[in-house]
Amino acid sequence: MADMTVAYSPSHGLGEEQSIWFKLTPLLNQENPMQVLMALSDKYNGVIPINLKNQRIVLLSEPAHAERVLVSNADNYTKYFDGLRPIFGNSMITIDGALWQKIRTPQQAAFHPNMFEEYFPYLMSAIDSKMARWAKFASTGETIEMVEETWTLAAEMVCKALFDREMPFNPHFVFQQVKTYTDVMNHKSIRLKNQRGELVEMTGEDTAKAMEVWHSIPDTVMGANILDHREKTLLKMLEAAEADPNFPEFDHRQVIDEMKQYLWAGTETTALTLAWSLYLLSQHPEAMERIRAEAHAVCGDADPEWNQVQQLSYTRMVIQETMRLFPPIWALIRIAAGDDDIQGHKIKAGDKVVILTYIAHHSPKYWDDPEKFDPERFAPERAKKRVKYSYLPFAAGKRACIGGALSQIENTLALVQLLRRFTPEYVGPVPAKIHATVTFCPKGGLPFRIRPLS
Ligand code: HEM
Repeated sequence: MADMTVAYSPSHGLGEEQSIWFKLTPLLNQENPMQVLMALSDKYNGVIPINLKNQRIVLLSEPAHAERVLVSNADNYTKYFDGLRPIFGNSMITIDGALWQKIRTPQQAAFHPNMFEEYFPYLMSAIDSKMARWAKFASTGETIEMVEETWTLAAEMVCKALFDREMPFNPHFVFQQVKTYTDVMNHKSIRLKNQRGELVEMTGEDTAKAMEVWHSIPDTVMGANILDHREKTLLKMLEAAEADPNFPEFDHRQVIDEMKQYLWAGTETTALTLAWSLYLLSQHPEAMERIRAEAHAVCGDADPEWNQVQQLSYTRMVIQETMRLFPPIWALIRIAAGDDDIQGHKIKAGDKVVILTYIAHHSPKYWDDPEKFDPERFAPERAKKRVKYSYLPFAAGKRACIGGALSQIENTLALVQLLRRFTPEYVGPVPAKIHATVTFCPKGGLPFRIRPLS
């Protein structure tokens, strides 16, 4: 059963007054928040200082700023997590310094490219489940929510490939629960409505319930049917670290927290990328056809084999271009431990520094015709000319994403398989509205209908 000892208080959520997300709400809660940020960034030459009563937030958007904060002076900048602790616990994504290195080291091997071939059949098996579900939607013609569909796929991939477990929970239910919590705007509305004594849409009790469900998931996964008793899985690596007498910090709580981290950091981002890529492809049918043609040229009518994945290069470029236009993590937040000077801009100890990767991804300084969907910009010859740190979907430096390469394999396979069988048709407003919270989400979701491929 769930271990309910995790200390958290829903009253210290993302939308609380001390939270950076709360402070950024006036900027983000606009019709087109990214245009507002880009205009401000232009006006202030890439550095937007926000001076508040007792603290300063500095928004940075140039590649050279990212290089300073994430790479060359990374030790001066610690991670900022605020109300996301209930989601991630004390997993490595939240920890700094020597302990972070110690916790990451035993897990690194699970993400080495030589492991991916082993994961391949499990990724394909998760895609097969999704195709069976979509076959039903194709016959009913009902409208579905794409981010939920892609999240449930990504969660099944993590369970099967990384944990060697059958999918043991209803991912649609869990997705809804966690989303209730992570939606920053929800928190703010609870707070404001509570203050005005109005009826609230979501109560602290709802948030607590959502988190109860979430905390129970790692135990549910560990207790689920083992798929193939593989020797080298991420879960086995976590358990080995727990059993290591020389590593007392890696206790059972750490195993649970690391699993929670993978089940969210490793799924929501991957799911948003796939959902946004289907949205873009739905607007660019010629690119959808090109993916199908590439799949046919590489695999004929058969399913892809592991040794063919590298050849699906156009499909991969579509995914890369999607992460440029819609970076799932669009803002990287750090706290300055000491004073710094970033290209002549003074940073003081305690300042919160936000790297707006979205802005560099959309800047005409670094990309031709930046708003155009053009997967070919990731072709090797053109990619070589890219300015370093102008494209950071997985961040950079030592705290860069551990699962970036894996996520691109997951999404390449998912696109190829789903598009060879179906035509997902986006049926929401164009352009889709943005909901920039911790992740880069569509406002109100991405409604689709699934059509069989004629
Ligand atoms: C498109 C998919 C993905 C995107 C865009 C993405 C993005 C990121 C970014 C930007 C960070 C750094 C955050 C920061 O510095 O504040 C990060 C860290 C991390 N990601 Fe990913 N991620 C993706 C997929 C995955 C997958 C598939 C996994 C694992 C299954 C994963 C696990 C992690 C972990 C554990 C960290 C923390 C690393 C550390 O602090 O040492 N991510 N991710």
